[in-house]
Amino acid sequence: MGKRILLVGGGGREHALAWKIVQSPLLEKLYCAPGNAGIAQFAECVPIDGEDLPAIKQFALDKKIDLAVIGPEGPLVAGLSDLLREAGIDVFGPSKAAAAIEGSKSFMKRLFAQYAIPTASYQVFTEPEAARSYIRKQGAPIVVKTSGLAAGKGAIVCHTLEEALTAVQRVMVDREFGSAGDEVVVEEFLTGEELSFIAFVDGENVLPLAGSQDHKAVGEGDTGPNTGGMGAYSPAPILTPALHAQTINQVMIPTVRAMAAEGRPFKGVLYAGLMIDKGELKVLEFNARFGDPETQPLLMRMKSDIVPLMQASAAGSLAGVEIEWDDRTALCVVMAAGGYPGSYEKGIPIAGLEAAGALEDVAVFHAGTTLSPAGEVVTAGGRVLGVTALGDGVVAAQQRAYEAVDKIQWDKAYYRRDIGYRAVEREAK
Ligand code: AMP
Ligand code: GLY
Repeated sequence: MGKRILLVGGGGREHALAWKIVQSPLLEKLYCAPGNAGIAQFAECVPIDGEDLPAIKQFALDKKIDLAVIGPEGPLVAGLSDLLREAGIDVFGPSKAAAAIEGSKSFMKRLFAQYAIPTASYQVFTEPEAARSYIRKQGAPIVVKTSGLAAGKGAIVCHTLEEALTAVQRVMVDREFGSAGDEVVVEEFLTGEELSFIAFVDGENVLPLAGSQDHKAVGEGDTGPNTGGMGAYSPAPILTPALHAQTINQVMIPTVRAMAAEGRPFKGVLYAGLMIDKGELKVLEFNARFGDPETQPLLMRMKSDIVPLMQASAAGSLAGVEIEWDDRTALCVVMAAGGYPGSYEKGIPIAGLEAAGALEDVAVFHAGTTLSPAGEVVTAGGRVLGVTALGDGVVAAQQRAYEAVDKIQWDKAYYRRDIGYRAVEREAK
């Protein structure tokens, strides 16, 4: 009997997951809640919000779902996995207690301190005045972060004292991120190059995916405010075999053991956001889920069937499992609505999707899209598309991805022209 799978979420990451899951011979039927216009091409989308926990549970029971795959952090941190597991449904994704590694940066930082996992020095604050006086003492540059979830926008990198004090005002006084700013982490500014190290975890075993690199800042050359991610590629040449071993031994295994020791065994995808500086690594953050947009290039390169990997993570049987990869580079350019990560318009028709998707080795993953009543694909979010291409090396993948991007237009579309620049510089050497 094939598997009946429910995928929760509706972003670019979920489109990539749906695209990969439907390639599995183990699948009988894929549902997605709520999905988007791209996912609707091969899954039955249902208009249920992932954070409407009782409705998701009822739908999963009604449709006799065998495996639930939870894409975004919101439902995980809200406890969707626990609710579904209690109802007898297998879940690929961590419990609420384990998802706290992403949902509470103050919990995460305490865990790092207690288990000697390398990270930036920091303090946690609940009072703005205490935060201000610590910031004045430390000086700039410095980083102010909401402890709670803020859609990738809650980490404010401050280059001057004034910016840091403004960040305290925004987060702790004006409450720009609501209750996510109840606690605030103020931490040391780290320099270096970032790396996304993502792994399947089954409570005990760590099965790493290929390395990848995101581009968090909105502007070219990594300038301007942070976003959910403006583009990504895999492999990441910075991830040498030595750094890989170091990450497994200093970060991934100690964290998985620490979570088990805390009574919060982690099952699902554990994503370490690392800062690498002259061979030394520090953890910037953990996520309890796949990265978005890293998943888009990663899954284009994954040759193995993903469904058994998800089942093994849920069942605690990842030991000895391996993943096969396409040796080529995959690169994803995020096309966003003009104005993102600030305010932006929605409902704008998108042209050229078919021409872009028809290019060889290109996949146009949808994020914030929906179908208009007339059946047209229109924009429905900040990050709209993840145009992803494979190539022999990063230069070829980049060229192919932008060739596809150039075929797509809508009013006020915005994207970075330099996705992959670090790897391109390395390849040129
Ligand atoms: P986070 O949500 O903690 O991963 O932060 C989002 C982004 O902010 C990271 O990917 C970095 O680009 C930047 N960032 C966060 N923490 C630091 C830090 N301590 N030093 C420098 N940049 C940081
Ligand atoms: N790409 C960054 C994230 O998924 O958090």
